[in-house]
Amino acid sequence: MKIISSDLQAMAVAPKGYPDDDLFEIAFAGRSNVGKSSLINTLLNRTNLARTSGKPGKTRTINFYLINEKFRFVDLPGYGYAQVSKVERKKWGEIIEKYLKKRGNLKAIVLIVDIRHTPSPQDVDMYKWIKTYGYDAIIAVTKADKISKGQRQKYLNIVKKELQIKPEDKLIAFSSLDKTNRDKLWELLEVYNLDVLEAVE
Ligand code: GTP
Ligand code: MG
Repeated sequence: MKIISSDLQAMAVAPKGYPDDDLFEIAFAGRSNVGKSSLINTLLNRTNLARTSGKPGKTRTINFYLINEKFRFVDLPGYGYAQVSKVERKKWGEIIEKYLKKRGNLKAIVLIVDIRHTPSPQDVDMYKWIKTYGYDAIIAVTKADKISKGQRQKYLNIVKKELQIKPEDKLIAFSSLDKTNRDKLWELLEVYNLDVLEAVE
């Protein structure tokens, strides 16, 4: 994918704040601090379009990034951040679920997990939501730079097993630090013909 432009188009916590058009969207979900915003920046060749942070809980709204004026990446708030109140955590869950439930523009979801950690119960729940609402999942196992190449398959298999990944879903190691599999992840996304503006009659 040749990136001509990428801009923050909207930040929302409810459907009335979502962009109101028919452009396709790819959403990025995962626990807080896993590297969602970094992965989006890596795909877009931007250093800080999606704001990143060493501290968890940076992205608290649904952020819509318009790309090439033809499709969008959607950065979802990270879940599982222990340092916020129960009430706030519940609110984040509702923000995410409402988006997944109702968003006709959504084509696929990239679920991001950390290669070093066994997926959490919330990761498992997130994967189940994705499948419940009928979407394809692409599991990006990020921070692959933290594990030596020879060991990575072993860690990928743990993720596969823990999430009980369905045959139609894809799993890929990724690193925003050294850009491992940046192009391969794009290939998996391009399957969705993201830059087709309207369905052919
Ligand atoms: P929230 O918005 O809080 O949910 O976090 P996030 O998932 O958007 O994570 P973010 O992209 O802000 O990254 C969190 C931290 O992980 C930052 O310190 C990043 O520099 C680091 N990080 C992200 N991706 C990678 C990676 O591939 N490798 C390594 N080594 N560090 C990474
Ligand atoms: Mg973020």
